[in-house]
Amino acid sequence: MAEKLLLKSPNCADLGLKAEPIELKHFPDGESYVRIPVEAKGKDVVLVHRCYPEPDPSLIQLFLAIRQLAEMKAASITAVVPYLPYARQDKRFLQGEAMSSETVCKMMKEAGCSRLLTFDCHFLKKEGDFSCGGMPTTNVSLGPKVVEFLKQGLENPLVISPDEGAAYLTEKEKEKGVMKKVRGDYGKGKSAYREVAKLEAKFDVKGRDVVIVDDIIAGGSTMVKALKLCLEGGAKTVRCGAVHGLFLNDAAARLSSGGASQVACTNSIKSSLSKIDISDSIKMLL
Ligand code: R5P
Repeated sequence: MAEKLLLKSPNCADLGLKAEPIELKHFPDGESYVRIPVEAKGKDVVLVHRCYPEPDPSLIQLFLAIRQLAEMKAASITAVVPYLPYARQDKRFLQGEAMSSETVCKMMKEAGCSRLLTFDCHFLKKEGDFSCGGMPTTNVSLGPKVVEFLKQGLENPLVISPDEGAAYLTEKEKEKGVMKKVRGDYGKGKSAYREVAKLEAKFDVKGRDVVIVDDIIAGGSTMVKALKLCLEGGAKTVRCGAVHGLFLNDAAARLSSGGASQVACTNSIKSSLSKIDISDSIKMLL
């Protein structure tokens, strides 16, 4: 078996991994500079790299690092990307839309990546091993960790997923419910964001402590509507969480002013609401 080499990007310094740092800098025009400062020849290399915030340059850095490791003749190259960006466009809603999720995976494969490890990849919707655009991919769920964190101190809470795609996150729960979600059209102008047109709950939340868990809180439209629906339905308390917290459009503030008694997510993306650490989950995969 080949010797292992664990590498981390500077944007993963907080994850407490015993790994060699790779160098990331920028040229004056903003382009990325990447350097692998250690010998990788013949080694089984694992590179841990966050691809958010700034998904576009972070992905370019990932492609450059993988390509360089391949040119250094690493025996294998595993990329650990805690939050995989571009995972939400896995379907064409309008003719001619680019399938960004598949394209990103294909580009990783083409650069020389042997395996991708990620958490709660949006388009996979379950744990397991997959081939995404030809890229061997292992998807691990942090859903149970988020649920466990949010349930702390509650007696018999009702655990809810705000849409069918997120139902796998809560499937081990005894007391659970799944909402039905319909997205609207793209907004006007240049935004590719589709607001939630309708959210329905066909279960009783009256007097219950409710925990809502999704894979992603992005623009917050889903979680804010799910919270409102639960409070209007008479829930006693509502806690909201996700694996990946992007918290765009003041989503965190909208959740707290909307009545959420707690909001939490993992540090797959770093924010002040990253309460659940993914370091051990990464270590278990290596
Ligand atoms: C979508 O199907 C996902 O599971 C999330 O519900 C979604 O990405 C959240 O997006 P937003 O916060 O913008 O509603």
